[in-house]
Amino acid sequence: MADPIPGTTLPPAKTRFPLRVVGLMSGTSHDGVDAAACDLRLSGDTLVLTPLGHLSVPFSTALRCELVAALPPSTTSAEALCRLDTGIGQAFADVAARAVDELCAGHADLVVSHGQTLFHWVSEDDAGAAGRVRGTLQIGEPAWIAEATGLPVVSGLRTRDVAAGGQGAPLVGLFDTLWLAGRPGTAVALNLGGIANVTLLPTTDGAPVTFDTGPACALLDAATRYVTNDHLAFDADGALAARGLVVPDLLARLLDEPYYRRPAPKTTGKELFHLSYLLDRVGPTPPTAEDLLATLVALTARTVADAVRDTATEVVASGGGTRNPALMTALRAELPGVVVRTSDELGVPSQAKEALAFAVLGWHTWYGLPGVLPRATGARHPRVLGSVTPGADGRYPPGRSAGVARPGRLEVSPPV
Ligand SMILES: Nc1ncnc2c1ncn2[C@@H]1O[C@H](COP(=O)(O)OP(=O)(O)O)[C@@H](O)[C@H]1O
Ligand SMILES: [Mg+2]
Repeated sequence: MADPIPGTTLPPAKTRFPLRVVGLMSGTSHDGVDAAACDLRLSGDTLVLTPLGHLSVPFSTALRCELVAALPPSTTSAEALCRLDTGIGQAFADVAARAVDELCAGHADLVVSHGQTLFHWVSEDDAGAAGRVRGTLQIGEPAWIAEATGLPVVSGLRTRDVAAGGQGAPLVGLFDTLWLAGRPGTAVALNLGGIANVTLLPTTDGAPVTFDTGPACALLDAATRYVTNDHLAFDADGALAARGLVVPDLLARLLDEPYYRRPAPKTTGKELFHLSYLLDRVGPTPPTAEDLLATLVALTARTVADAVRDTATEVVASGGGTRNPALMTALRAELPGVVVRTSDELGVPSQAKEALAFAVLGWHTWYGLPGVLPRATGARHPRVLGSVTPGADGRYPPGRSAGVARPGRLEVSPPV
């Protein structure tokens, strides 16, 4: 068992395996690093998560420009990749150090870093294997984080799932299932980042279904930058979209995308949903900026709703897209009779949800427990995810020797 955390008052009875963890996330929107800190401990078979706060730190303009220049559909060089891996590792390290100081009163046990996805390699043309993930690359060298914080770092969580035959994403399925399984009705977790992903909770066979439904903000952001000549990075508060009308022909052309018809598990990214993809479908006579944004809001709302309407009585949404009222209104209109709420209402700040989910994955890795539920991502077998970079004390995790059994549920509990 790990040492108790100094400065924390833990209930004495049956509380075990405490870790104070900082989760770090930057998604496909590559807007910046979200850090969330939490205390995790096991009480019976319940993993109790106490959020300690979160911060979002934008990438510097220079780093963001380097990143955009390397992302698909652009090509890049080994030199650019090395510079980016270093720059992003250092940016993550700065945010991690701030999170330990500002959110954890200077003491944490572990950092878990998702890194920045540079490429998610989905096979499109292999005979019989379309949609298989062949590789995925998250950059942001963890040594910088370990050096800046002195803490061990779990990173590279997606690649083990891919090597085991899975999609490597979405990895939030474990968190969502442990957290929402006890809710009345059928809850579906939804994350609206650059890409939208859902977790449909386990039915009778015990496996959740997790997959990317398509773009959430990816095309909205690309269109906003395009129509404002890069003055706006996103349609703040959905202001443009709210003033527009859906263009039915364009919506139909956008919905005619084979990805939406592909069965789960499936994942996608900005390798597919980028500006050129959008401009190809817009054609030579573009609608007004407002109508274009309204149509893209309708696309996200429709594709998310189509993915959940047969199952959900409740949708628990998180991610930056929840801050776009035009998108949330369109989603609610697509799902009559379904309660659409944000994760904030259940104690998980929507901007911190993915970072907290990675913190929970890191807790599992620390104790040698698999980070995905059987069959959720398509992996042949659930595996312990990630690599560990030791901290200043050189210690490796206890792994299985700690004797922790897999938690059966997750409870989000306010600080005592
Ligand atoms: N106030 C807002 N109004 C509209 N959209 C917003 C707002 N705040 C954030 N967003 C959207 O959320 C996106 C970032 O969400 P995030 O969850 O960080 O995605 P990712 O995980 O892909 O980085 C932004 O690119 C933007 O599209
Ligand atoms: Mg983000």
